[in-house]
Amino acid sequence: MPQYILAIDQGTTSSRSIICSSHGEMIAMDQHPVTPSCPENGWVEQDPEAIWQSVLSSLKGVLAQATLSAAQIHAIGITNQRETTLVWNRDTGSPVYPAIVWQDRRTADTCNAIADDPAAADYIRATTGLLPDPYFSATKVAWILDNVPGARAQAEAGELLFGTVDSFLIWRLSGGTSHVTDATNASRTLLFDIHKQCWDQKLLDLFNIPPAMLPTVLDCADQFAELDVSLLGAAIPVTGVAGDQQAALIGQACFEPGMTKSTFGTGGFMMLNTGTTPVSSQHRLLTTVGYRLNGEVTYALEGSIFMAGATMQWLRDGLKLLDNVADSAQLALDAPADSSVYLIPAFTGLGAPYWDPQARGAILGLTRDTGIKEIIAAGLLSVCYQTRDLQCALQSDGVSPLCLRVDGGMASNDYLMKSLADILGVTVTRPEVTETTALGAAFLAGLQTGAFTSMNTLTQLWQCGQTFEPTMPPSRRDHLYAGWKSAVERIRCC
Ligand code: G3P
Repeated sequence: MPQYILAIDQGTTSSRSIICSSHGEMIAMDQHPVTPSCPENGWVEQDPEAIWQSVLSSLKGVLAQATLSAAQIHAIGITNQRETTLVWNRDTGSPVYPAIVWQDRRTADTCNAIADDPAAADYIRATTGLLPDPYFSATKVAWILDNVPGARAQAEAGELLFGTVDSFLIWRLSGGTSHVTDATNASRTLLFDIHKQCWDQKLLDLFNIPPAMLPTVLDCADQFAELDVSLLGAAIPVTGVAGDQQAALIGQACFEPGMTKSTFGTGGFMMLNTGTTPVSSQHRLLTTVGYRLNGEVTYALEGSIFMAGATMQWLRDGLKLLDNVADSAQLALDAPADSSVYLIPAFTGLGAPYWDPQARGAILGLTRDTGIKEIIAAGLLSVCYQTRDLQCALQSDGVSPLCLRVDGGMASNDYLMKSLADILGVTVTRPEVTETTALGAAFLAGLQTGAFTSMNTLTQLWQCGQTFEPTMPPSRRDHLYAGWKSAVERIRCC
């Protein structure tokens, strides 16, 4: 009899739950949208109660779809949008401020001031593998403590807790009994020493964060909590947690050094497994925890781009150029191949390798015959060019992935995947199961309980779906990319 594992994938624009079997089969999926709000230029927030309700709905929905009861679920895994920051009251469980989303840039000035201090910037880089950028959690926590009346005093008195979305969900799911996170989520806060695997007092002092607010950091496969029975009727153990990009690395079975995946959800995130050695990038990529199992850390190099699927959502909802994002592939195919339109989606600044929080978006190269198709194609190609930026940074750091495993919502777009292979000049491989992020969380939960016996078992469960080979002549690829680079230079602020 197979065992059933439930995985929650709490992302930037939706909460999904899946149920998979210990044979690696997907049994059911349920999804509920979450809408971020943008109250000011560069600010992105979410209602924590809306996040929580969407997760609860997806839990109930997926059980109904699978016609299973909670008592038949063996374990729960959680994966989540990373860096998004919540602060809540330990007694009531109520957040004191909306969740500040990873895309939010409100702390850009604070980060610029820290970056101007070479000693501080070097210490951050050496300790956390990250850069002083508003993307990460630390300055967001400090902003809440400094801007919500009374919050800092409450935090210092031990009354407030900080967590990324995983911690907040576990706190709620456990009925307020477990304040924990895993090493991958901790590694995205700017507060965690990725070498010693602990919170760093010097960084807590630098960002002025009271240590009493912090969750306990566990392995990715561990005993995180038990579900409050009143929620679904059974005390299901939560035994796997990882940030969504790291969960995708696991779901893609990228367990050998050099294996690389890109996930195209709201943003786009390329991650290369570097094994048990943390590799420090000289080209502004991030060194991060890929996963931690039985106390052993596997590191990764990561390139983070902030707008991938979100660009297509903007073309659909903001500019109303599309009814369905799924139509974009055919529209882009119908656009002339020699169009020189570039869309630079720096709506919330630029991530790796530019790290320019003040840059803003642009569409360049418009002519009198530019139409909707050309702009749609430019939106899709912006994902390819940004990914090539990451590939170039990896190559400059001495690592060249020969093959890229892809997943996330946009991976189903064949035009995009073929263009990606062409612009990168590498083979792009899409797995049979593209719910890779949730699958990774389920794998972790099942590893802890013994439903999956080893990483080898997980490798065997990964199946290739479709492969896209590059056919574009290298001179054309380089010409198009040179146009992108000069377009980006025109919008950069730093
Ligand atoms: O670092 C941010 C990332 O975790 C968000 O992922 O899937 O919401 O684009 P996603």
